[in-house]
Amino acid sequence: MTSALPLIAFKHVSKSFDGGRIHAVDDVSLEVAEGEFLAIVGSSGSGKTTLMRLANRLIAPDAGHIAIAGEDVAQVDPITLRRRIGYVFQSGGLFPHMSIKDNIGITPRLLGTPAKEIAARVDELLDLVRLDRKQHRDRFPHELSGGERQRVGVARALAAKPRIVLMDEPFGALDPLTRDALGDDYRALHRKLKLTTIMITHDMTEAILLADRIAVMRSGKLVAEGTPAQLSESNDPYVGELLGTPRRQAERLQILLPKDGATPQGGAT
Ligand SMILES: Nc1ncnc2c1ncn2[C@@H]1O[C@H](COP(=O)(O)OP(=O)(O)OP(=O)(O)O)[C@@H](O)[C@H]1O
Ligand SMILES: [Mg+2]
Repeated sequence: MTSALPLIAFKHVSKSFDGGRIHAVDDVSLEVAEGEFLAIVGSSGSGKTTLMRLANRLIAPDAGHIAIAGEDVAQVDPITLRRRIGYVFQSGGLFPHMSIKDNIGITPRLLGTPAKEIAARVDELLDLVRLDRKQHRDRFPHELSGGERQRVGVARALAAKPRIVLMDEPFGALDPLTRDALGDDYRALHRKLKLTTIMITHDMTEAILLADRIAVMRSGKLVAEGTPAQLSESNDPYVGELLGTPRRQAERLQILLPKDGATPQGGAT
């Protein structure tokens, strides 16, 4: 049987902390195909960030392997890995003392890209994430709104033209409209740049709307994975619980926001 090599493969990966007392990631196997958009959903402390940090070699697994395009990341030089994988940090992670252009250009600079090329790339990236070049280039992170900072985080992750982008709760602390707009914009970028994306989110509705496939983590374990339709057939009670919110929202919205201005069910006229 011939099957395409997954671009990212976690094979029986485990990672514990505190001398083995905390099993942050517990025997997780997961594959992501080239071009796929995978969301990882799970409650706080379920091991999502740890799994991502393992992929980028920010930490090393206690057991198992992570392969990128068939190559064990443990064998790949971290600088090369950084070029291949863009990372959007959970807290935004911009350097407060650096201007926006320096924040975005940091990886190319570490890779030895000439200054003129970096400047051109920074402008291109500002356009890409829909921030005004002149207005934002020389500002500092504290002079930007939360949504603008997240856009800079995405631009920085894309600076070295990676094939893979890992995003840790990228749109977490934003108002719903900004979050929705950023999510849609990122989804368009994912398609346009032919990226492979893993995005962590607490929000199952966001995962369903943005991702091709969803992986559910609980207490360090991968409890389910599949398309939204596949997940809805899962017998796992935790998955059922997670899907409950978007289901209830969808039902309520259908009643409260009827199409074509029709009268809501149970309405007065
Ligand atoms: N460097 C560390 N040292 C000790 N324990 C850690 C470390 N990093 C993570 N942990 C623990 O591992 C578990 C998983 O943490 P992780 O950050 O992966 O969770 P998460 O799913 O990303 O949670 P959240 O949604 O709150 O960001 C937690 O119990 C956490 O306290
Ligand atoms: Mg986390």
